[in-house]
Amino acid sequence: VQTIRKSIPEATPSNVEFPAATIADAPRFSYRGAHFDVSRHFFPVDSVKSFIDMLALHNINTMHWHLTDDQGWRIEIKSLPELTELGSKRDGTVIGHNSGVYDSIPYGGFYTQDEARDIVKYAADRHITVIPEIDLPGHMLGALKAYPNLGCTGGPYEVWQIWGVSEDVLCAGNDSTYKFIDTVLGEITELFPSEYIHVGGDECPKTRWAECAKCQAKIKELGLKSDAKHTKEEKLQSHVIHHASDFLASKGRKMIGWDETLEGGLAPGAIVMSWRGEAGGIEAAKLGHDVIMTPNSYLYFDYYQTLDREKEPDAIGGYLPVERVYSYEPIPADLTAEEAKHIIGVQANLWTEYIPTFAQAQYMELPRMAALADVQWSSAPKDYKKFAARVPQLINHYKANGYNYARHMFNVTGTLTPDTINHAITLDLMTVDSAPIYYTLDGTEPTEASLLFDKPVQLNGSTTIKAVAIRPSGRSDVFVDSVSFNKATSHPVTLVNAPHPRYKAKGGQTLTDGKFGTNGYGNGDWVGIVGSDLVAVVDLEAEEEISSVTTRTCVATGDWVFDARGMNVAVSTDGKEFTTVASEDYPAMAMSSNSIYTHSLTFDPVKTRYVRVTVKPEIAMPEWHQGAGRPAFVFVDEIEIN
Ligand code: ACM
Ligand code: ZN
Repeated sequence: VQTIRKSIPEATPSNVEFPAATIADAPRFSYRGAHFDVSRHFFPVDSVKSFIDMLALHNINTMHWHLTDDQGWRIEIKSLPELTELGSKRDGTVIGHNSGVYDSIPYGGFYTQDEARDIVKYAADRHITVIPEIDLPGHMLGALKAYPNLGCTGGPYEVWQIWGVSEDVLCAGNDSTYKFIDTVLGEITELFPSEYIHVGGDECPKTRWAECAKCQAKIKELGLKSDAKHTKEEKLQSHVIHHASDFLASKGRKMIGWDETLEGGLAPGAIVMSWRGEAGGIEAAKLGHDVIMTPNSYLYFDYYQTLDREKEPDAIGGYLPVERVYSYEPIPADLTAEEAKHIIGVQANLWTEYIPTFAQAQYMELPRMAALADVQWSSAPKDYKKFAARVPQLINHYKANGYNYARHMFNVTGTLTPDTINHAITLDLMTVDSAPIYYTLDGTEPTEASLLFDKPVQLNGSTTIKAVAIRPSGRSDVFVDSVSFNKATSHPVTLVNAPHPRYKAKGGQTLTDGKFGTNGYGNGDWVGIVGSDLVAVVDLEAEEEISSVTTRTCVATGDWVFDARGMNVAVSTDGKEFTTVASEDYPAMAMSSNSIYTHSLTFDPVKTRYVRVTVKPEIAMPEWHQGAGRPAFVFVDEIEIN
């Protein structure tokens, strides 16, 4: 029925004629989920219903409702009223990425049990099951604020105003913790008729438990011992999760936990939600447990959906365009057919630290949810172009429903490839649906009167490229990129020390590709290295007179990415014996803001063929940083030599 519904042109009020046809269709996976975090930011009942409507449109049959976390407890528990009276409110919210600056605006919200029942019914009317998550034993500051006796130190605790993973968690040595779990899950199972109940289990630091007399006494009482695979504290967490699982079993329910619940041994019959990639899911399936795949590397919709971050609302990081979501194959190749049966479903997660409004939640979901739906439903061989051809019809429904959606997938994408033979740069432009692309190379706005792109273009000098796809339905965003030529451009580069495997930037070739890295060190432009100096040798391929070297660093302190501590330039005519011509050390960064920094060294003109540029990372992260004392990353792009 949904397939027929989606085939109707929403925007056309006249009669609709269908060709005679037979639809043979069935879902690949029985569990087709979408997760919605309403703790970091609270979304009113109407927004949750709108979210459910979006799921129905995409044949998704489960909403995983993340109701509690360090930043707020959002579900009424009648016998523990302080959970919402105190635990649903925070005094303010940090601005940006744990910047240390707060908005000081009181923030709160929760769902009454009547509202939760209403949402469960609204979903059920649309064949959608709501699975609640009470995340334990970590992510608990909302509850600890209300009941500080449930923590190892006894508090006082505050509902968190920052993002991250708090070290304050439920005390696993305290009998009242287990009573608390039973009370909460008791009311939750009465509210939510779902077969599965999610108890979290992710990201629970063991720092407090290691120092807590009650937790250590519990470890002794249970006879838990550290072994090669698990610490005694990890086994204690397993004990807490087993307790929750047993309680749910007594109510005829099954438990879902994040993949950390594998640590210290899974509870019998527990379902694992694999989020840190697929490894946990694979391990659980091999152990005979059912698995829901939600790997962050494909299905975290809080990640950016474009590399062009400057025009985007702030997001947590990462890069997951529609195409990557679509490419996800949920059955790992190394499972046997029998083990593969344990992969019961697929889900995308929406964590809302950086998503304060529902319009933004829609923007992060759509149209990635269309790609998710295809992964969840379809057994057909993957064909991204065919999928993309179907999306505009779905977008008509988004428009008709007033949904906010992202438009990147129909934008022009461009690649700039160094042509090391002609010392030029080759420009290629494309769209997913081969729509006509018009471009300019003089900085003017492209129109239908501009050059029509029909084959790759050789660029021989500094240029700004602007391109647009023009379709009957309208114009795409304008693609803008520029290349800047200098004496290093399109000459080969050798990296002396291995970069981090995730940030190899084509073996360093992006350093001389004429394209300056933009904000977002993970976009492929930047060479990233940690633990050793970045040493790049540029071969100018002929003797050139040079007198300056400029490079740039990208800083993102929250991600352990800091500015350089120093830079050195050395020259050589044979590529073996180098002579330093300029060197500078920079002061240690007490605190640097997230930005791109330029570093230049000038020196007396020298004739040379090889230029060795060394960029030194911060050796130890500063005192104020959570990674204090550990080496920092440095990210570098473009080496300009003049
Ligand atoms: C998670 O993203 N912490 C499950
Ligand atoms: Zn404790």
